[in-house]
Amino acid sequence: MSILSGKNILLGVTGSIAVYKAIDLASRLTQAGANVEVIMTSAAAKFVSPLAFKSVTGKGVYKEEDLWGGEAHVLHVGLGHGADLLVIAPCTANTIAKIAYGLADNLLTITALAAQCPILIAPAMDAGMYEKPATAANVATLMERGVLFAGPEDGRMASGLAGKGRFMEPSKLMGHIRHALGMNGPLKGKKIVVTAGGSREAIDPVRYISNRSSGKQGYAIAQAAVDAGAAVTLITHPTGLPEPENMLVIQVDTAAEMLAEVEKATREGAHGLIMAAAVADFTPVNVSDQKIKKRDGFGQVQLTPTEDILARIALLRPTLPNLKAVIGFAAESQNLLENAREKLARKKLDLVVANDITASDAGFGVDDNRVNLLFPDGILDSLPLMSKEQVAETVVQQAIHLILKK
Ligand code: CTP
Repeated sequence: MSILSGKNILLGVTGSIAVYKAIDLASRLTQAGANVEVIMTSAAAKFVSPLAFKSVTGKGVYKEEDLWGGEAHVLHVGLGHGADLLVIAPCTANTIAKIAYGLADNLLTITALAAQCPILIAPAMDAGMYEKPATAANVATLMERGVLFAGPEDGRMASGLAGKGRFMEPSKLMGHIRHALGMNGPLKGKKIVVTAGGSREAIDPVRYISNRSSGKQGYAIAQAAVDAGAAVTLITHPTGLPEPENMLVIQVDTAAEMLAEVEKATREGAHGLIMAAAVADFTPVNVSDQKIKKRDGFGQVQLTPTEDILARIALLRPTLPNLKAVIGFAAESQNLLENAREKLARKKLDLVVANDITASDAGFGVDDNRVNLLFPDGILDSLPLMSKEQVAETVVQQAIHLILKK
């Protein structure tokens, strides 16, 4: 179950043209399984109709008039108490100032003052307003009190001016919302290193040897670990996937670079290492520093084996007392379980996640995966076809179990 599934998200929207993007945000949250209730300020309702939010959430939209309705005395308290998270997106400089000062002059600011849940603010304002000392001081005050912020970003504003004040895109905001919901999860205070993607072993400045890995499974695992509250380092080859939020992302090209980064991050007190990357097993012996011309022909590219990252970590393990979960993958086209068992033993893993890459509906490049979990004590858990997100949650559950086990 996704971190958003069944969560009660109160979405406050204020008077910014960026409010149209909040409709997309409300839609994404709803599609991810959250119950989204919207509070609109009067200024927000001048930009878009409440019906737009109601249409995408299927839930109530509270407007300023509701503050003066029959149930008003309980409404703001009820809203603020029942929510798992209050997200104010977009949030104007005015609303930030009111919340910083504890003013409660509309339904949204009253709710913010009464709220018992965490608050996440995504500011949106014209260039210059965010950097003004008044706004900067209000933001600093709220941060000190534990209010979370997502953005604003640098870029072009509706006025045509450019600067810091641009509303964060909903796709990125989703990452911040997940982080806010998960930050006190079971992996709070724990460090998890995740690898993702294929690998690029250069032949010359233009050409390289790579593989079919899309990076989707590794990225989903990194996100699931953030959802569980972990501090995540994602070490990845260039995948073209959107850069995830709230984790340290380290881009590498070659197997050797990945080895160096994995070793460094693991030595820095990691509690878990999940190697989802399809690391190159071979690399060209000679890399031409000039583009090889067609007329000269390639001849043969001589290859040499790369170092096995998991095998290196297995050697280091006695010096890494924090490291409780080392999880590898085994992508096989034949003798799936036999080969996976061999890797489990050879790489001294706590768990190997094995999948058959010949299946057309699962594995490389597609959104689903069908995996088998193999443990050192011989236990085998064969899972049905699942989305890569579901596989990621399952793998992270296993990591949690290994890390927290006494
Ligand atoms: N792996 C690694 N270092 C490498 C190659 C692979 O740490 N140089 C990791 C992968 O990230 C994966 C696991 O080892 O978690 C198994 O990778 P896989 O390619 O299936 O196995 P190999 O050991 O490369 O064996 P083979 O190519 O014979 O299947």
